[in-house]
Amino acid sequence: MVEVAAERGKQLSSRVSEEGAGWACQQLGTFDRLRPDHKGFTWFSPRTLWHSRNEIIAGLLGDPSGEVRRRWVAAQEARGVDPGFRIKPDVAGSFSFLLLGDTGEGDASQYAVVPGLLKVGQDTSFAVIASDVLYPAGSGNEYADKFFRPYKDYDAPIYAIPGNHDWYDGLGGFMRVFCDAPPLKPRPDRGRLRGLLWRKPETIDEERLAEARKHRDRPSQRAAQPNSYWVIETSSLLIVGVDTGINGHIDAQQAEWLRHTSLDPRPKILVTGKPIYTRNDYKPSELEGGGTIDDIVRAPEHRYVAAIGGDVHNYQRYPVRVGDRVIQYIVSGGGGAFMHATHTTRRVDVAGVHEDDFKCYPLRGDSLSFYSQLYAKRLRMKWIYLTPTEAACIMSDQIKNTPVRPIAGPVKITRRMRWAARLLGAWPMPFRLPVGTVFHRYLSELSDWDTPPFFKQFLHLSVTPDMLKIRCFAATGCLPQEIDPPVEDEVLIALS
Ligand SMILES: [Fe+2]
Repeated sequence: MVEVAAERGKQLSSRVSEEGAGWACQQLGTFDRLRPDHKGFTWFSPRTLWHSRNEIIAGLLGDPSGEVRRRWVAAQEARGVDPGFRIKPDVAGSFSFLLLGDTGEGDASQYAVVPGLLKVGQDTSFAVIASDVLYPAGSGNEYADKFFRPYKDYDAPIYAIPGNHDWYDGLGGFMRVFCDAPPLKPRPDRGRLRGLLWRKPETIDEERLAEARKHRDRPSQRAAQPNSYWVIETSSLLIVGVDTGINGHIDAQQAEWLRHTSLDPRPKILVTGKPIYTRNDYKPSELEGGGTIDDIVRAPEHRYVAAIGGDVHNYQRYPVRVGDRVIQYIVSGGGGAFMHATHTTRRVDVAGVHEDDFKCYPLRGDSLSFYSQLYAKRLRMKWIYLTPTEAACIMSDQIKNTPVRPIAGPVKITRRMRWAARLLGAWPMPFRLPVGTVFHRYLSELSDWDTPPFFKQFLHLSVTPDMLKIRCFAATGCLPQEIDPPVEDEVLIALS
């Protein structure tokens, strides 16, 4: 059934038409009815910024996540969990699962993903959330509307790895919800100033959490994972999830576990909270004691076929040649939170990947048009608006590639259009309007949260003993794409 839907989905994507991208949306999707209220999510409140302060403190005074993680691990082992942190789902050699990243804002952009995900995920055995399950700061008291309610009709277990935002709660909410772990006993921080400033885990209102859990309490939905990092074992494939904490570093104990787990002879996928390739850049994530996660991924004996990371809120795929193999490095962080720009990614050449082999969603032209629309509306700068066609032409002129979506008729690129694109970061210049992390953290309230297209995405992965098929499905927030979720990318990987 997914096969038939996927074939249709390829003809309906943003790569084929502007309608497929969700431009000129005639009818809002049904997701709107699933939302508990119509409150938006804003990063621009003093409370939100104060709750997210651990990222800044970790940057200035050192990141204690490794030390705290070791305490969580010791507590879990004392509770008798498997020290290999194995999850063994009840699946045969052939099965499928979903993977989505950066979900938990609890607003329209998160709920807009749900109808398509339920449709495409009907046949799947489980789902994995890769990073940032809960914004802004991982609180165990906010899981009702940002996790349990949106996925209440997904009839299979959901496992997760934490992202930096989950760590802003010292992982307290995450460990309680996913591992059923009791809170850690408070212990003074060795860095005294950091200890004073650091945000401590929130005390969880157990009654409220029990009520929230009722949304997903069917036996088919129950999941208990052993730890914040884990391995899902199936006969065809291992899915190895790592916990990259706040800044991407891996503590020595986790590094040792990762090395040991990677020795298993079965093929593997890495799931990480920090993508290894993103925006034409290489970020291999360091291991305490030396080496990087990518050293482990590249070692031929470990048989990694793909490394998939959240954290960046869009989709990117880099097929990287490593010796005589190709490893698919994927960013999949478009599962709910606000969209990060793709148009700021220059012509791709990292690790020998050719621009024509690089795939992203949203397409760079759509990303540029989206941000131009946003700033035109909110800053009342009408001149900065670029239509999807104009933006696609500018981006292909800049990247020096053929536009992915065919362009109807000639478009004259004017000076006005070039200046708009420059200001929006389509090519380097000393000043540009924020479209990346700064935008996400401080300015995203500028956007109109209830207006598609949202440019969200999730992955469907189907596994047989010989083959892994990864598909990127889009969610725009419009009804037609809920009914037939577009397929924005597809890759086949031999496992045998
Ligand atoms: Fe995120």
